[in-house]
Amino acid sequence: MTSQSLSEAVAEIVDKFSISEQRLKSISDEFIRLSKLGLHHEGESMSMIPSYVTSIPNGKEKGTFLAVDLGGTNFRVCSVHLNGDNTYDLLQTKTSIPRELMVGTSKDLFAFLAKRVEEFIKTHLSEKFDEDSVDHQLKLGFTFSFPVNQTAINRGTLLRWTKGFDIKDTVGQDVCKLLQDELDALNLKVHVAALVNDTVGTLMSRSYSSPGQHSTLMGIIIGTGTNCAYVESLDAVVKLGESELASLAKTSNMMIINTEWGSFDTARAVIGSTEYDDSVDQRTPNKGMHLFEKRISGMFLGELLRVVLTDLRSKNLLFSSSSPQLETEWILDTSALSRIEADFSQNLIATRTLISTDLGLETTLEERKAIKTIVSAIGKRSAYLAGAVVAGILELTSALDKSAGVDIGMDGSVIEFYPGYESLMREAVSAVVGQEKEARVHIGIAKDGSGVGAALCAVVA
Ligand code: BGC
Repeated sequence: MTSQSLSEAVAEIVDKFSISEQRLKSISDEFIRLSKLGLHHEGESMSMIPSYVTSIPNGKEKGTFLAVDLGGTNFRVCSVHLNGDNTYDLLQTKTSIPRELMVGTSKDLFAFLAKRVEEFIKTHLSEKFDEDSVDHQLKLGFTFSFPVNQTAINRGTLLRWTKGFDIKDTVGQDVCKLLQDELDALNLKVHVAALVNDTVGTLMSRSYSSPGQHSTLMGIIIGTGTNCAYVESLDAVVKLGESELASLAKTSNMMIINTEWGSFDTARAVIGSTEYDDSVDQRTPNKGMHLFEKRISGMFLGELLRVVLTDLRSKNLLFSSSSPQLETEWILDTSALSRIEADFSQNLIATRTLISTDLGLETTLEERKAIKTIVSAIGKRSAYLAGAVVAGILELTSALDKSAGVDIGMDGSVIEFYPGYESLMREAVSAVVGQEKEARVHIGIAKDGSGVGAALCAVVA
């Protein structure tokens, strides 16, 4: 093994993950093209799901609501009290979803969820639970962060599972009804009032909490999965059909659209592909689907790194031996990349400890430098891809031509904890729309989107 060959191999890998300015523009253009198709017709690769949310909050909304959130490894139940002055009080509990329920039956999963709601009400809201009057039925906002074909504010059938869930009999079923049936079976006085994607919730909670000069245009999640919802002119949502558009237009001229950008460019015309991406994709239950997400979000970046390291090991370029951990699929969390990226010590001590603890392998400084370079390439590609499509939405909506600035609410472990992620995203946005426009984009972390945002959707329901 020579240092030359390791550095050459690393340079090649970095090259495979890099995205030129020209390609950023092509990605943005293709995103606009496919988004328009999705707004026109059902069944397109970009789902562009109408949320039926036709107003965004101004911070004055009031009331107490229940919200539940199913979207990744945890299920959350919360009660949200909106104070009507941009603030709220939130009480929440979190349960991890047993692995077997993620691949079992609908009945088992939704019965489990309803049971958690019952426990929450009994523990935290007992006075409401005991109340006999039907007037006290609690409204519940259901944050369900998977692609659904939404046909009303509280109706939507599951299109496909993502993020490791794979329950065959849920596909095609109305997830609100599945939850409502199980709540009813427990005699809970809870009405599932709104079905909300986490990105829609993020947009809503950002808009409620941060009243500013600039109204909120997008809600973005870059966590376990990735997605974006944005404010679209109602008349652009052509696929709703003339009569529905006419009826909705009586009260509003906008609608929040859940783009489901995780499935952007499944044809891989512009997003590019490395052998490492293909290898990760092969290990997922939804092979060939949601490929954009698999290059960006937290669930996949750790595995992508492991696959690259395994490849270098198999070529005898890295590590003196393999280890059971290195051979274990999905063992690396995205937080490993965040920690390596954040390691600025001269000898990359934190990286040494991490590789030793997580992969059971000792490293030379040269190897750690190589690993850090690979990590940065994977992280930068993720942020660049996200930035390119944010630019796409800015162009699609002409938002920066219509107002002085736009606001974006973001949430998720990658955006929150990956060092320098927002700056890298901004670099990509700037490369596409120009620096002057990029400077007018305001980005803020929007916490509790799935709780507060779902409650706000229950208000508008
Ligand atoms: C889902 C989206 C969700 C996103 C972020 C994706 O896998 O398809 O509905 O918004 O993850 O949680």
